[in-house]
Amino acid sequence: MGQSINELRPLVETRVAEVEERVALLAQPTPDALRSLDRLVTDVTLPGIRRPLGAEHPVVKTTNEIVSIFRGLGYSLEEGPEIETDYYNFESLNFPPNHPARDTQDTLFVAGQDRKPQRERLLLRTHTSPVQIRSMQKHKPPVRILSAGKVHRHDTPDASHSPLFHQVEGLAVDTNITFSDLKGTLDHAMKALFGSSVRTRFFPSFFPFTEPSADVSISCFKCGGKGCRLCKQSGWIELLGCGMVDPNVFEFVRENGYDPAKISGFAFGMGADRIAMLKYEIDDIQLLFHGDMRFLEQFA
Ligand code: PHE
Repeated sequence: MGQSINELRPLVETRVAEVEERVALLAQPTPDALRSLDRLVTDVTLPGIRRPLGAEHPVVKTTNEIVSIFRGLGYSLEEGPEIETDYYNFESLNFPPNHPARDTQDTLFVAGQDRKPQRERLLLRTHTSPVQIRSMQKHKPPVRILSAGKVHRHDTPDASHSPLFHQVEGLAVDTNITFSDLKGTLDHAMKALFGSSVRTRFFPSFFPFTEPSADVSISCFKCGGKGCRLCKQSGWIELLGCGMVDPNVFEFVRENGYDPAKISGFAFGMGADRIAMLKYEIDDIQLLFHGDMRFLEQFA
């Protein structure tokens, strides 16, 4: 290294001397000196290098929009890890070990953990719902929280599936929270997101951590419910899962003030990618993750 550095030294010294000379000349410019400098000095009148400003990714833009709607309702943001334990992703959300509802989640597990107890095993979170439990461990009721982020499922990529996607989760716990509060909240949020003429419809569904559970559809914001390509001629678009927090979930955080006899709550989860795709009429989820400038620039 010494030899190479010694060869470099005179080059660096000459350059430094040149620059110093020019700086000195510029400090006391004579017409002659300026003429000889013409070739050497940077022309400050040349147009600069334009740096693109960048733009929010459509998923980020949509997530921020959803977050700001719920901020207006008094919700605050919480974060949780993307690499979760079985306990937070499943067990504390009332998915008992070996319960068949786990199969619906196509989980990606971290390898080589066979010797750990099941609840400590690491996995890529399959939904943002583990943030519900983490928030209730951190804060005593009442809580109104929102969490947004990446989730992972073992899905083969196609136009509507991606092994990585994004969810926005909400949780409200207080005294006397009812299903009507859930309906009113989501109806307001969907109108804020898709336009005030949009209607919502709640269908019975199942999630281990909510009881009762519902899937929510909105009337098609494009055709107004008459039927079009966007809503597959049905007039309705299925958008999110929700329900009243199952008392069994509260049992996991009971000692932090969550006595299911005294409090109640609701939770909901929605796919940010799906909402972005609907809003911007993107017909292939893969476009969101390819980083193609021609696609992304359209959102600038
Ligand atoms: N976590 C559920 C899912 O990913 C969605 C959900 C969230 C349902 C909260 C009910 C309450 O499918």
